[in-house]
Amino acid sequence: MKKFITTPIYYVNDVPHIGHAYTTIIADTMARYYRLRGFDTYFLTGTDEHGQKIEEAAKSRGKNPKEYADEVSAKFKNLWDEFEISYDHFIRTTDDYHKITAQNAFLKMYEKGDIYKGEYEGNYCVSCESFFPQNQLVDDEFCPDCGKKTRIVKEESYFFKLSSYQDKLLKWYESDKCILPKGKKNEVVSFVKGGLKDLSITRTSFEWGIKLPAKLNEPKHVMYVWLDALVNYISALGYSRDNAKMDYWNDTLHLVGKDILRFHAVYWPAFLMSLELPLPTSIAAHGWWTRDGKKMSKSIGNVVNPKEVADAYGLEAFRYFLLREVPFGQDGDFSQRALIDRINSELSNDLGNLLSRIVGMSSKYSNYEINKENVAKFYSAELEEAKSHINSSLEALNEVATNRYLEEIWKVLNIANASIAKYEPWNLIKEGKTDEANALVALVANLLAKVAVILSPAMPKTSAKIAGTLGFSIDTNLFNKIVLESKLLSFKSQATEPLFTKIESELMAVPGTKEEIKEEPKDPEIKIDDFKKCVIKVGTILECSNIEGSDKLLKFKIDLGEANPRQIISGIAKYYDPQTLVGKQVCVLANLKPAKIFKHLSEGMILSGEDGSLTLLSTMAPVKNGAIVG
Ligand code: MSP
Repeated sequence: MKKFITTPIYYVNDVPHIGHAYTTIIADTMARYYRLRGFDTYFLTGTDEHGQKIEEAAKSRGKNPKEYADEVSAKFKNLWDEFEISYDHFIRTTDDYHKITAQNAFLKMYEKGDIYKGEYEGNYCVSCESFFPQNQLVDDEFCPDCGKKTRIVKEESYFFKLSSYQDKLLKWYESDKCILPKGKKNEVVSFVKGGLKDLSITRTSFEWGIKLPAKLNEPKHVMYVWLDALVNYISALGYSRDNAKMDYWNDTLHLVGKDILRFHAVYWPAFLMSLELPLPTSIAAHGWWTRDGKKMSKSIGNVVNPKEVADAYGLEAFRYFLLREVPFGQDGDFSQRALIDRINSELSNDLGNLLSRIVGMSSKYSNYEINKENVAKFYSAELEEAKSHINSSLEALNEVATNRYLEEIWKVLNIANASIAKYEPWNLIKEGKTDEANALVALVANLLAKVAVILSPAMPKTSAKIAGTLGFSIDTNLFNKIVLESKLLSFKSQATEPLFTKIESELMAVPGTKEEIKEEPKDPEIKIDDFKKCVIKVGTILECSNIEGSDKLLKFKIDLGEANPRQIISGIAKYYDPQTLVGKQVCVLANLKPAKIFKHLSEGMILSGEDGSLTLLSTMAPVKNGAIVG
């Protein structure tokens, strides 16, 4: 039995944050789970290094894209190594073997007749590396996914015949677990039912990408970064080269965030059908994290750095928190308070104290020997109840519902804790019911052993400590024996340190991380002649009003000392009441090519200072309208 588990490959324009850690830790848990079940598992992660976004990020730091990608890719790899993520291969899309596979795949789809040449004209969001038809844009120009301003692109391009896969995709969505959680499937189905347009899959306006196959002789074109990126999943398995690991492809689980579900559940299966390859077993999409109820952003400085959390609170607690805090697929909020509460009550109390108590009792009553002999005789009801939660826990994990998986495990711990409170073994001893008391200790030790085994994919170190304390080791045979076949064990336990210590107050001082501050882009240098190309003038606002249908835009009439006032559209409605601006002087980039914004002509750009909020630029004292800023 083979299983292939993947994370998305991470863009190298950002250092690893909680979102990346979340996807990777879920994938790691799933990989460890399948290994525990005896599957021959191949776990892939890596970095996505081409495209306009990376080219521009490198340029703004004064670096060439490869040099920049090397640096950031190493940060991801180092963090995953430090976190002991059990990946089998770390792929980089700048690796030569990947480029060859991407070209082979392109050629195969081209020769099949699924790719044709045309011209793309429309809007492109560089941040999402995604094309959008006009009718999907917000306020005619903003990306519907990330809210950033799109660019108008008009260039020669090759297209993939996505439209011809619409019906086949809809058919595929009928299969049971192809998209998880199941509720997310509806969004994908209605997107596809809305009609699929052919997809532009090459770009000609920049260079940082994989060239097209030599046979096409198209030196100006590079591959669309999403085609390049998605192919990583099969290039890591040797597709079209030696195919050495393609056996793993038959049972694939892709972990993704909800923002990239469309690429994985629509484009990717269509590419795969074109390549005549089997489709993934499941694409599981998780939600997004906020911090203390707010969206994370570099400019606010509240991005959660996973290393900082793991250093402060421990990696195992961090893993537990991420997997437990939110129902899989929904958005979640990170706060130190919520993490501390889970550590204190669930990890330290429910789990850690239980282990200490059982070791203490076994040392007192039976010299650390724990004998299974009478467990079923006295406590069969507890065993039965625990079994049903263990089954539910595994069922949940089969659907990547990590929170339910852990909740069910904690129900087993509740049974164990409740049975100590209910039967009071110290009183049983006093009453001379030694067999019952010893059997109770053995019941709890067995429940703890089962918990340790099924918890091991999520918390490998903690589980190994429990196993070490009770004197067994976790492997597939033991999983089969005590989890699947519900067998009981006898143990020889030993004294141990507490598994988790309680935490009184928050351990991380400031939101944000030193590393991100270091990562601020260096501004690229320009010559004075470059600056001289910009004509910035001071002008007085004559009129200012809201634009109907838009809550972002304001329409200005500004006197720049010219024959007629200029009309300028600016997206600052959030920051200013239009009436308060009339009569104020502002600085305007006056030689910006006029453009239509929300169907209104805009003849320049009003300049402002932005630091999370926004304030318009002006001179310190009034000047004549049309005065040049320089
Ligand atoms: N490079 C593409 C993926 C290509 S896969 C063939 C990409 N990279 S990414 O670095 O931007 O994002 C990778 C993953 O991080 C996505 O699954 C995304 O959902 C996740 N997250 C990024 N920010 C996040 C949060 N704030 N919260 C949770 N996960 C989020 O997309």
